[in-house]
This record gives sequence, C-alpha cells and structure tokens, in this order.
Amino acid sequence: MSLKEEIINEGLPQHIAVIMDGNGRWAKAKGKLRIFGHENGAKAVRNTVEATAELGIQYLTLYAFSTENWSRPKLEVQTLMKLLVSSLKKEIHTLHENDIRLNAIGNIKALPPKVYSELVEVMEKTKNNSRMCLTLALSYGAREELQNAVKEIATKVKNNIISIDNVDDTIINDHLYTHDLPDVDLMIRTSGEQRISNFLLWQIAYAELYFLEIFWPDFSKEHLYEAIVNYQKRERRFGKTSEQLNVNNEKK
Ligand code: IPE
Ligand code: IPE
Ligand code: MG
Repeated sequence: MSLKEEIINEGLPQHIAVIMDGNGRWAKAKGKLRIFGHENGAKAVRNTVEATAELGIQYLTLYAFSTENWSRPKLEVQTLMKLLVSSLKKEIHTLHENDIRLNAIGNIKALPPKVYSELVEVMEKTKNNSRMCLTLALSYGAREELQNAVKEIATKVKNNIISIDNVDDTIINDHLYTHDLPDVDLMIRTSGEQRISNFLLWQIAYAELYFLEIFWPDFSKEHLYEAIVNYQKRERRFGKTSEQLNVNNEKK
C-alpha cells in the first residue's frame, strides 16, 4: 500500500521546501565520482516535482546551489552548472505541459550566462502557469537575501519612501526574493544532516522540519508521502496552547 492513501486532502502543506543533500556521498558509496550523484539527483527532482503537483501542493522550493557552494572544487561547480543547463532544456516542455511555473530565488545574475539565459527562458515560457510554482534556489543564501532586504529598506527609509515605524513583517517580506511565496510549512532535508545551511531563514520561522537518513538520489515519491503523513500528525500551535486550538476548531 502506498502512503499516499494516508494523506488527508485538507491540511496539506501549502509550501514545501527541500534541502536536496547527499549526492556526493551517494556516489562515493558506489565507488563513483561526486558528479554521478548529482546526475542521479536530477531524477529525484523529477519524481518530487511530479508527486507534489499530483497532490495539489501549490509551492515547492528546491535548494539546488547555495552561495557557499561556489567554494567547491572548480570542476564540480562547472559540471553542476552544465547539468543545470541540460536539465532545464530537458524539462522545459514537461513543466509547461503540466502547467507548472518555474521561479528562481538567489543571486541568479551570478550564474554563468548559459545557465542564466536558459533559466530565464524557462521562467518566461511558464510564467502564466498556475497549477504549481516550482522555485529553484540557485546561488541562494538566506543571509545574503536578508542583507539585500536591509539595504533596500534602509535606502527607502533614507529617501522617505517608507517610514521607519512602518517597517514590519510585511515590509521585510516584500523585500525578500520570496516576496510572492507564502511561508514554508514543511522543510525536508535528506542525507542525515540536521541543519539548515543558510536556507530560507526568515521563511521557516514556523515550518515543520523533517529529516531523513537517505541520500537525495534515493528520494522517491513514497519518501515525500511519508514526510507529509508525518507533518499531518503534528499540531502546529504558533505559540498558542493546544486547548486554544481545539476550542477554535470546535467553533468552526
Ligand atoms: C547536494 O549534495 C547537492 C548540492 C549541494 C549541489 P552534496 O553535493 O552536498 O552531497 P554530499 O552532502 O557531499 O554528500
Ligand atoms: C546545502 O547542502 C545546499 C544544497 C543542498 C544546495 P550542503 O551540502 O552545501 O550543506 P553543508 O555544507 O553540508 O551544510
Ligand atoms: Mg552536502
């Protein structure tokens, strides 16, 4: 039996974010080069996108390359960039046919021109699609995102475009790469590491975290279902007490 049958349609996470980790270790365990792991990671991306869209989840955000990943060996970075171009070329039609909009967050201008132009092409082609928004975090770092937001807000305050008293959650949110995305409900990380690695620090304030031991290339639709089933068993209290939440539910 598939765990999919245990998923309840009401109370699905609206936004899932995934730290796709463990490609290198997956390959090493097989006596292969790290890049072999990245190539196989692309298949797991495909399965995850498909499963998320099938469930009717509206936002999926995938951490594909961090600002810190630029410090990896040059050859690994170059091969990863090539892989990105070929994956985008390969997936453009499938994404479009499935009514999925591609979005990107991060300092995408820092990407090699070929990656940047391919990315822009896919985003442009899919911009009016509405079934699901797939966001790739590329050259993404949450601290850089927050630094940029602080600079932009400070400039607007200085130029009297916004008043300092009006700087609130909404204003900060509006200046993040993710300004058009809701907060993350469920964050998943593979590979056994239990850390955030500079991903969406602001947006995960109340996200449920789910860590799995398996490496990213082994991540299947069943693993996604497992994470969602687990998420649905949790009580998200947002600072309130359990009793308060139950009273509110009874009133409904
Ligand atoms: C995740 O896998 C992919 C990227 C960071 C690009 P890793 O490449 O980090 O694989 P491990 O964690 O070293 O096994
Ligand atoms: C996080 O994985 C970044 C991505 C998955 C793209 P890393 O492998 O770079 O994270 P650390 O270095 O183990 O924290
Ligand atoms: Mg890693």
